[in-house]
Amino acid sequence: MEKKLTMDKLVNLCKARGFVFQGSEIYGGFANTWDFGPVGVELKNNIKRAWWKKFVQEDPSTYGVDAAILMNPRVWEASGHVQSFGDPKMDCKNCKTRHRADTIIENFTKGKVSAEGMSNEEMEKFIEEHDIKCPNCGKRDWTPIRKFNPMFTTSRNMVGDEKDVVYLRPETCQGEYVNFLNVQRTMRAKVPFAIAQIGKSFRNEITPGNFLFRTVEFEQMELQMFCKETDGLKIYETYKQKALNFVESLGLKAENLRFHDHDKLAHYAKAACDIQYNFPIGWQELNGIHHRGNWDLSRHSEFSGKTMDYLDPYTNERYIPNVIEYSIGADRLMLAIMSEAYDEETLENGETRVVMHFLPAIAPFKVAILPLQKNLGEKAKEIYGNLSKKFMCDYDEAGSIGKRYRRQDEIGTPFCVTVDFQTLEDNTVTIRDRDTMKQIRLSINELENYIQKAIEF
Ligand code: GAP
Repeated sequence: MEKKLTMDKLVNLCKARGFVFQGSEIYGGFANTWDFGPVGVELKNNIKRAWWKKFVQEDPSTYGVDAAILMNPRVWEASGHVQSFGDPKMDCKNCKTRHRADTIIENFTKGKVSAEGMSNEEMEKFIEEHDIKCPNCGKRDWTPIRKFNPMFTTSRNMVGDEKDVVYLRPETCQGEYVNFLNVQRTMRAKVPFAIAQIGKSFRNEITPGNFLFRTVEFEQMELQMFCKETDGLKIYETYKQKALNFVESLGLKAENLRFHDHDKLAHYAKAACDIQYNFPIGWQELNGIHHRGNWDLSRHSEFSGKTMDYLDPYTNERYIPNVIEYSIGADRLMLAIMSEAYDEETLENGETRVVMHFLPAIAPFKVAILPLQKNLGEKAKEIYGNLSKKFMCDYDEAGSIGKRYRRQDEIGTPFCVTVDFQTLEDNTVTIRDRDTMKQIRLSINELENYIQKAIEF
């Protein structure tokens, strides 16, 4: 990808055009939180809808849930998050900045050495032997590495003044595991079947940053496929491909996507891989696909005392299913989609046009209605009234038509409908294509079908 885009440019465009604002901005912000504006919320909702359509609506073996964010704290003991979930953190004693030891090693070796699976002691030894200095101040004066538990805690009032610690979930998938029995029973589901959900997760990340890439509050779209052990690897391979097809279908180019198989696996895992995307900050994880064996259901069985067995109605076998997990962040995918869609074109008159080439199905607004002059507003509003029953529409009558087109290009609106004096005579309008900038004349009656066809997904 020719990199016309820097993260700063994208952040500025997002702020100027109503995609994303800094969280709590009027108070000076709140680090690594972001508010989605009128344009951004549409884009993100469309991304989530597209995921739900592909993975839940169109797949009869997948069932959706929307589980509580606050869960019984025992859930996080069973999942291992309370005891061991954590990133290896160390501080620079000289400049008082905090770093992830694994990232420091990976950046120093330009990705040639992966710290995945290294113990704290191994990482400390590596840093010392290679004399790795603080990237901020250039000194080597590190604290020992400590595990840092990034789960946010809150508390719940119990009897009297007593308070119980409650965690904000750091991933959504536990809500899927704890509902395995409920979904299986109520939907009469037969293995293999999956449970999916979309929802907020929270992590007190050591090194958040890079705009939407790593934040402390984000949305995940996660799916757990429950299967027989012997089918696990085949289903894992299928989900790798499905995950790749999905992001390609939303417009991410194949040349900007690659698989990254994990070398070191968690002790219970049988296979794991990420799909990486070539973000403006370089190749980074976009989503994960993990073959988790029967670890999750076994642990919940052990900690809850409820049997998580599945009785196969055909073979009468009783077993705890294996899990294939597919997990992708909605915000991180939105960042990838915006990076891919961004383009700067030089026009014939030498001006530069910034345009977001979103797939029409996920574009924030499908069509903008633009009266050529203010006194055509009545007719234009009538068209807006009819089309907005079907699609998200924008309406703009301020400024020159050229400037209005530019604004729609920058928010990626696939079509602009211009109402002019001829409209009053013959009920036709011009419709302009965002990508080609070509205009055709259409009868108002044909508009809905024309747009509907273009936004199918
Ligand atoms: N349940 C498995 C799980 O949560 P993960 O690799 O930690 O696995 C899955 O997260 C996906 O969630 C990532 O690939 C990424 O897209 C997104 N994600 C994770 N942490 C994030 C963060 N701090 N900010 C934004 N997105 C994040």
